[in-house]
Amino acid sequence: DWKMDAFVEETIAAIREKVGNGKVLCALSGGVDSSVAAVMLSKAIGSQLTCVFVDHGLLRKNEGDEVEAVFGPEGHYDLNFIRVNAQERFYEKLAGVTEPEEKRKIIGEEFIRVFEEEAKKIGTVDFLVQGTIYPDVVESGLGGESAVIKSHHNVGGLPDYVDFKEIIEPLRDLFKDEVRKAGLELGIPERLVFRQPFPGPGLGIRIIGEITEEKVKIVQDADAIYREEMDAAGMNKIVGQYFAALTNMRSVGVMGDERTYDYAVALRAVNTIDFMTAESAEVPWEVLHRVTSRIVNEVNHVNRVFYDLTGKPPGTIEFE
Ligand code: XMP
Repeated sequence: DWKMDAFVEETIAAIREKVGNGKVLCALSGGVDSSVAAVMLSKAIGSQLTCVFVDHGLLRKNEGDEVEAVFGPEGHYDLNFIRVNAQERFYEKLAGVTEPEEKRKIIGEEFIRVFEEEAKKIGTVDFLVQGTIYPDVVESGLGGESAVIKSHHNVGGLPDYVDFKEIIEPLRDLFKDEVRKAGLELGIPERLVFRQPFPGPGLGIRIIGEITEEKVKIVQDADAIYREEMDAAGMNKIVGQYFAALTNMRSVGVMGDERTYDYAVALRAVNTIDFMTAESAEVPWEVLHRVTSRIVNEVNHVNRVFYDLTGKPPGTIEFE
Protein backbone atom coordinates (compact mmCIF):
# COMPACT_ATOMS: atom_id res chain seq x y z
CA ASP A 1 0.00 0.00 0.00
CA TRP A 2 1.95 3.04 -1.24
CA LYS A 3 -0.31 5.54 0.52
CA MET A 4 0.18 3.91 3.91
CA ASP A 5 3.84 3.48 3.11
CA ALA A 6 4.11 7.23 2.58
CA PHE A 7 2.05 8.01 5.68
CA VAL A 8 4.28 5.84 7.85
CA GLU A 9 7.48 7.34 6.45
CA GLU A 10 6.24 10.91 6.79
CA THR A 11 4.97 10.35 10.31
CA ILE A 12 8.25 8.80 11.40
CA ALA A 13 10.20 11.72 9.92
CA ALA A 14 7.88 14.24 11.59
CA ILE A 15 8.25 12.51 14.98
CA ARG A 16 12.03 12.48 14.68
CA GLU A 17 12.01 16.19 13.91
CA LYS A 18 9.65 17.05 16.75
CA VAL A 19 11.32 14.95 19.43
CA GLY A 20 14.94 15.88 18.74
CA ASN A 21 16.94 14.54 21.67
CA GLY A 22 13.91 14.41 23.94
CA LYS A 23 12.72 11.53 26.07
CA VAL A 24 9.41 9.91 25.23
CA LEU A 25 7.11 7.80 27.37
CA CYS A 26 4.43 5.45 26.11
CA ALA A 27 1.80 3.36 27.89
CA LEU A 28 1.73 0.08 26.00
CA SER A 29 -1.29 -2.18 26.40
CA GLY A 30 -0.53 -4.68 23.66
CA GLY A 31 -3.64 -3.56 21.81
CA VAL A 32 -3.31 -2.61 18.17
CA ASP A 33 -3.40 1.17 18.68
CA SER A 34 -0.75 1.47 21.35
CA SER A 35 1.40 -1.19 19.64
CA VAL A 36 1.41 0.62 16.30
CA ALA A 37 2.09 3.95 18.01
CA ALA A 38 4.97 2.42 19.99
CA VAL A 39 6.56 0.82 16.94
CA MET A 40 6.34 4.07 14.97
CA LEU A 41 8.06 5.86 17.81
CA SER A 42 10.68 3.18 18.14
CA LYS A 43 11.48 3.39 14.40
CA ALA A 44 11.74 7.15 14.72
CA ILE A 45 13.75 7.59 17.90
CA GLY A 46 14.79 4.12 19.12
CA SER A 47 15.77 3.95 22.75
CA GLN A 48 14.85 7.54 23.51
CA LEU A 49 11.49 5.82 23.94
CA THR A 50 10.38 4.01 27.09
CA CYS A 51 7.27 1.85 26.98
CA VAL A 52 5.53 0.89 30.19
CA PHE A 53 3.32 -2.17 30.11
CA VAL A 54 1.19 -2.65 33.20
CA ASP A 55 0.12 -6.22 33.83
CA HIS A 56 -2.90 -5.72 36.07
CA GLY A 57 -3.55 -9.43 36.41
CA LEU A 58 -6.72 -9.09 34.35
CA LEU A 59 -5.21 -9.98 31.00
CA ARG A 60 -6.08 -13.01 28.93
CA LYS A 61 -4.13 -16.23 29.38
CA ASN A 62 -0.42 -15.76 28.54
CA GLU A 63 -1.07 -12.28 27.20
CA GLY A 64 1.54 -10.57 29.34
CA ASP A 65 4.25 -12.94 28.12
CA GLU A 66 3.13 -12.51 24.51
CA VAL A 67 3.39 -8.73 24.71
CA GLU A 68 6.78 -9.03 26.38
CA ALA A 69 8.00 -11.43 23.68
CA VAL A 70 7.28 -8.84 20.99
CA PHE A 71 8.36 -5.64 22.72
CA GLY A 72 10.77 -6.83 25.40
CA PRO A 73 14.54 -7.24 25.12
CA GLU A 74 14.17 -10.55 23.23
CA GLY A 75 11.74 -8.93 20.78
CA HIS A 76 12.07 -7.13 17.47
CA TYR A 77 12.22 -3.51 18.49
CA ASP A 78 14.62 -1.00 19.89
CA LEU A 79 12.89 0.55 22.89
CA ASN A 80 13.08 0.43 26.65
CA PHE A 81 10.33 -1.96 27.61
CA ILE A 82 9.24 -2.02 31.22
CA ARG A 83 6.76 -4.63 32.35
CA VAL A 84 5.18 -3.96 35.71
CA ASN A 85 3.70 -7.02 37.35
CA ALA A 86 1.06 -5.31 39.44
CA GLN A 87 -1.38 -8.20 39.84
CA GLU A 88 -1.25 -8.29 43.64
CA ARG A 89 -1.95 -4.58 43.97
CA PHE A 90 -5.00 -4.78 41.74
CA TYR A 91 -6.41 -7.88 43.42
CA GLU A 92 -5.99 -6.28 46.83
CA LYS A 93 -7.76 -3.09 45.81
CA LEU A 94 -10.56 -5.06 44.17
CA ALA A 95 -11.18 -7.46 47.02
CA GLY A 96 -14.82 -7.41 48.08
CA VAL A 97 -15.87 -4.90 45.40
CA THR A 98 -18.89 -5.96 43.34
CA GLU A 99 -20.36 -2.81 41.82
CA PRO A 100 -19.38 -2.55 38.11
CA GLU A 101 -18.61 1.17 37.94
CA GLU A 102 -16.70 0.95 41.20
CA LYS A 103 -14.60 -1.89 39.79
CA ARG A 104 -13.86 0.10 36.64
CA LYS A 105 -12.92 3.14 38.69
CA ILE A 106 -10.55 1.19 40.92
CA ILE A 107 -8.84 -0.48 37.96
CA GLY A 108 -8.51 2.84 36.12
CA GLU A 109 -7.12 4.71 39.12
CA GLU A 110 -4.72 1.96 40.12
CA PHE A 111 -3.49 1.80 36.53
CA ILE A 112 -2.70 5.49 36.57
CA ARG A 113 -0.95 5.17 39.92
CA VAL A 114 1.28 2.34 38.73
CA PHE A 115 2.05 4.19 35.52
CA GLU A 116 2.85 7.37 37.41
CA GLU A 117 5.29 5.55 39.70
CA GLU A 118 7.15 4.15 36.69
CA ALA A 119 7.21 7.57 35.04
CA LYS A 120 8.77 9.08 38.15
CA LYS A 121 11.54 6.47 38.06
CA ILE A 122 12.40 7.50 34.51
CA GLY A 123 12.70 11.14 35.53
CA THR A 124 11.94 14.02 33.22
CA VAL A 125 9.89 13.09 30.21
CA ASP A 126 9.48 15.47 27.29
CA PHE A 127 6.71 13.74 25.40
CA LEU A 128 3.92 11.33 26.18
CA VAL A 129 2.57 9.05 23.44
CA GLN A 130 -1.15 8.42 23.15
CA GLY A 131 -2.58 5.82 20.78
CA THR A 132 -5.60 8.01 20.08
CA ILE A 133 -7.26 7.21 16.76
CA TYR A 134 -9.73 9.31 14.79
CA PRO A 135 -12.93 7.75 16.22
CA ASP A 136 -11.64 8.47 19.77
CA VAL A 137 -11.21 12.11 18.83
CA VAL A 138 -14.76 12.27 17.51
CA GLU A 139 -16.20 10.32 20.43
CA SER A 140 -14.65 12.46 23.14
CA GLY A 141 -15.69 15.60 21.28
CA LEU A 142 -19.30 14.59 20.99
CA GLY A 143 -19.51 12.71 24.28
CA GLY A 144 -20.10 9.39 22.56
CA GLU A 145 -22.38 6.75 23.96
CA SER A 146 -19.77 4.67 25.68
CA ALA A 147 -18.27 7.73 27.32
CA VAL A 148 -21.62 8.36 28.96
CA ILE A 149 -22.65 4.84 29.85
CA LYS A 150 -19.27 3.76 31.10
CA SER A 151 -16.15 5.45 32.25
CA HIS A 152 -13.50 4.40 29.76
CA HIS A 153 -10.40 4.52 31.84
CA ASN A 154 -8.00 4.47 28.95
CA VAL A 155 -9.32 7.53 27.19
CA GLY A 156 -8.11 10.75 28.78
CA GLY A 157 -6.94 10.89 32.36
CA LEU A 158 -3.32 9.92 32.02
CA PRO A 159 -1.75 13.25 31.01
CA ASP A 160 -2.73 14.97 34.27
CA TYR A 161 -0.72 12.51 36.29
CA VAL A 162 2.59 12.58 34.49
CA ASP A 163 4.91 15.52 34.11
CA PHE A 164 5.67 16.08 30.43
CA LYS A 165 5.72 18.88 27.89
CA GLU A 166 3.67 17.63 25.00
CA ILE A 167 1.53 14.77 23.73
CA ILE A 168 2.35 12.86 20.56
CA GLU A 169 -0.60 11.19 18.84
CA PRO A 170 0.71 9.59 15.66
CA LEU A 171 -2.58 7.82 14.83
CA ARG A 172 -4.92 10.73 15.35
CA ASP A 173 -6.04 10.89 11.72
CA LEU A 174 -6.51 7.16 11.17
CA PHE A 175 -9.47 4.84 11.28
CA LYS A 176 -9.02 1.38 12.76
CA ASP A 177 -8.49 -0.37 9.42
CA GLU A 178 -5.83 2.20 8.54
CA VAL A 179 -4.09 1.64 11.87
CA ARG A 180 -3.97 -2.08 10.98
CA LYS A 181 -2.54 -1.32 7.55
CA ALA A 182 0.11 0.86 9.16
CA GLY A 183 0.87 -1.96 11.59
CA LEU A 184 1.42 -4.43 8.76
CA GLU A 185 3.54 -1.87 6.95
CA LEU A 186 5.69 -1.63 10.08
CA GLY A 187 6.10 -5.41 10.27
CA ILE A 188 4.13 -5.93 13.47
CA PRO A 189 3.03 -9.59 13.89
CA GLU A 190 -0.41 -10.25 12.38
CA ARG A 191 -1.85 -11.69 15.57
CA LEU A 192 -1.22 -8.33 17.24
CA VAL A 193 -2.43 -6.28 14.29
CA PHE A 194 -5.68 -8.23 14.01
CA ARG A 195 -6.17 -8.69 17.70
CA GLN A 196 -9.74 -8.43 18.92
CA PRO A 197 -10.74 -5.39 20.91
CA PHE A 198 -9.94 -5.96 24.57
CA PRO A 199 -11.22 -3.50 27.15
CA GLY A 200 -8.81 -1.56 29.36
CA PRO A 201 -10.31 -3.02 32.57
CA GLY A 202 -9.71 -6.44 30.99
CA LEU A 203 -11.21 -9.53 32.52
CA GLY A 204 -12.34 -7.36 35.41
CA ILE A 205 -15.53 -6.58 33.48
CA ARG A 206 -15.93 -10.18 32.30
CA ILE A 207 -16.17 -11.49 35.84
CA ILE A 208 -19.53 -10.51 37.21
CA GLY A 209 -19.29 -9.45 40.83
CA GLU A 210 -16.23 -9.77 43.03
CA ILE A 211 -12.90 -10.40 41.34
CA THR A 212 -10.67 -13.03 42.91
CA GLU A 213 -7.51 -14.67 41.67
CA GLU A 214 -9.37 -17.97 41.40
CA LYS A 215 -12.10 -16.45 39.23
CA VAL A 216 -9.52 -14.81 36.99
CA LYS A 217 -7.89 -18.19 36.43
CA ILE A 218 -11.25 -19.79 35.59
CA VAL A 219 -12.20 -17.16 33.03
CA GLN A 220 -8.70 -17.15 31.52
CA ASP A 221 -8.75 -20.90 31.00
CA ALA A 222 -12.30 -20.98 29.64
CA ASP A 223 -11.59 -18.07 27.30
CA ALA A 224 -8.36 -19.67 26.03
CA ILE A 225 -10.28 -22.84 25.11
CA TYR A 226 -13.00 -20.81 23.38
CA ARG A 227 -10.49 -18.82 21.35
CA GLU A 228 -8.51 -21.91 20.44
CA GLU A 229 -11.59 -23.70 19.10
CA MET A 230 -12.90 -20.61 17.30
CA ASP A 231 -9.50 -20.23 15.61
CA ALA A 232 -9.42 -23.90 14.66
CA ALA A 233 -12.89 -23.59 13.11
CA GLY A 234 -11.89 -20.47 11.16
CA MET A 235 -14.50 -18.45 13.07
CA ASN A 236 -11.91 -15.88 14.11
CA LYS A 237 -12.07 -14.51 10.55
CA ILE A 238 -15.87 -14.30 10.53
CA VAL A 239 -16.89 -13.12 13.99
CA GLY A 240 -16.14 -9.60 15.21
CA GLN A 241 -15.55 -10.12 18.91
CA TYR A 242 -15.90 -13.19 21.12
CA PHE A 243 -14.88 -14.15 24.60
CA ALA A 244 -15.83 -16.12 27.69
CA ALA A 245 -17.15 -14.44 30.81
CA LEU A 246 -17.70 -15.76 34.30
CA THR A 247 -21.21 -15.31 35.59
CA ASN A 248 -21.61 -14.94 39.28
CA MET A 249 -24.06 -17.80 39.29
CA ARG A 250 -23.43 -21.19 40.77
CA SER A 251 -25.68 -24.15 40.27
CA VAL A 252 -25.95 -27.82 41.04
CA GLY A 253 -24.48 -30.37 38.69
CA VAL A 254 -23.17 -33.90 38.74
CA MET A 255 -19.72 -35.28 38.03
CA GLY A 256 -19.26 -39.04 38.26
CA ASP A 257 -21.15 -39.96 41.44
CA GLU A 258 -20.58 -36.56 42.99
CA ARG A 259 -22.91 -33.63 43.28
CA THR A 260 -21.21 -30.37 42.27
CA TYR A 261 -22.05 -26.78 43.03
CA ASP A 262 -20.02 -24.67 40.62
CA TYR A 263 -19.88 -21.64 38.36
CA ALA A 264 -21.50 -21.03 34.98
CA VAL A 265 -19.41 -19.64 32.13
CA ALA A 266 -21.08 -17.48 29.47
CA LEU A 267 -19.80 -17.50 25.91
CA ARG A 268 -20.36 -14.36 23.86
CA ALA A 269 -19.78 -13.77 20.15
CA VAL A 270 -20.99 -10.66 18.37
CA ASN A 271 -20.86 -8.98 15.03
CA THR A 272 -20.84 -5.24 14.98
CA ILE A 273 -19.97 -2.39 12.66
CA ASP A 274 -19.40 0.42 15.12
CA PHE A 275 -19.66 -1.21 18.58
CA MET A 276 -22.68 1.00 19.35
CA THR A 277 -24.98 -1.82 18.29
CA ALA A 278 -24.22 -5.50 17.85
CA GLU A 279 -25.93 -8.78 17.18
CA SER A 280 -25.04 -12.19 18.45
CA ALA A 281 -23.08 -14.20 15.92
CA GLU A 282 -24.12 -17.56 14.57
CA VAL A 283 -21.47 -19.92 15.83
CA PRO A 284 -21.88 -23.49 14.57
CA TRP A 285 -23.48 -25.82 17.09
CA GLU A 286 -20.63 -28.29 16.84
CA VAL A 287 -18.10 -25.61 17.75
CA LEU A 288 -20.17 -24.54 20.76
CA HIS A 289 -20.52 -28.18 21.78
CA ARG A 290 -16.81 -28.81 21.58
CA VAL A 291 -16.01 -25.65 23.54
CA THR A 292 -18.58 -26.51 26.19
CA SER A 293 -17.37 -30.03 26.69
CA ARG A 294 -13.75 -28.93 26.88
CA ILE A 295 -14.54 -26.18 29.39
CA VAL A 296 -16.48 -28.40 31.79
CA ASN A 297 -13.84 -31.12 31.50
CA GLU A 298 -10.70 -29.01 31.63
CA VAL A 299 -11.59 -26.05 33.83
CA ASN A 300 -12.12 -26.67 37.53
CA HIS A 301 -15.17 -25.18 39.23
CA VAL A 302 -17.26 -24.83 36.08
CA ASN A 303 -20.22 -27.17 35.60
CA ARG A 304 -22.36 -25.22 33.14
CA VAL A 305 -21.82 -23.18 29.96
CA PHE A 306 -24.30 -20.70 28.44
CA TYR A 307 -24.30 -19.04 25.04
CA ASP A 308 -25.40 -15.41 25.13
CA LEU A 309 -27.83 -14.64 22.30
CA THR A 310 -28.55 -11.08 23.39
CA GLY A 311 -27.95 -8.20 21.02
CA LYS A 312 -26.82 -4.69 21.90
CA PRO A 313 -29.08 -3.09 22.88
CA PRO A 314 -30.28 -4.18 25.34
CA GLY A 315 -27.13 -6.09 26.31
CA THR A 316 -23.74 -4.42 26.13
CA ILE A 317 -20.94 -6.37 24.50
CA GLU A 318 -19.08 -6.69 27.79
CA PHE A 319 -20.85 -7.81 30.95
CA GLU A 320 -20.20 -4.84 33.16
P1 XMP B 1 -19.78 -2.42 25.38
O1 XMP B 1 -19.63 -3.40 26.50
O2 XMP B 1 -19.84 -0.99 25.85
O3 XMP B 1 -18.46 -2.53 24.51
O4 XMP B 1 -20.93 -2.75 24.47
C1 XMP B 1 -18.25 -1.89 23.28
C2 XMP B 1 -16.83 -2.13 22.84
O5 XMP B 1 -15.95 -1.39 23.68
C3 XMP B 1 -15.08 -2.26 24.38
N1 XMP B 1 -14.98 -1.73 25.75
C4 XMP B 1 -13.92 -1.05 26.22
N2 XMP B 1 -12.76 -0.72 25.64
N3 XMP B 1 -12.06 0.32 27.64
C5 XMP B 1 -11.84 -0.06 26.34
O6 XMP B 1 -10.76 0.22 25.82
C6 XMP B 1 -13.22 0.04 28.29
O7 XMP B 1 -13.41 0.40 29.44
C7 XMP B 1 -14.20 -0.68 27.53
N4 XMP B 1 -15.44 -1.14 27.82
C8 XMP B 1 -15.89 -1.77 26.72
C9 XMP B 1 -15.72 -3.63 24.31
O8 XMP B 1 -14.75 -4.69 24.38
C10 XMP B 1 -16.40 -3.59 22.95
O9 XMP B 1 -15.48 -3.86 21.91
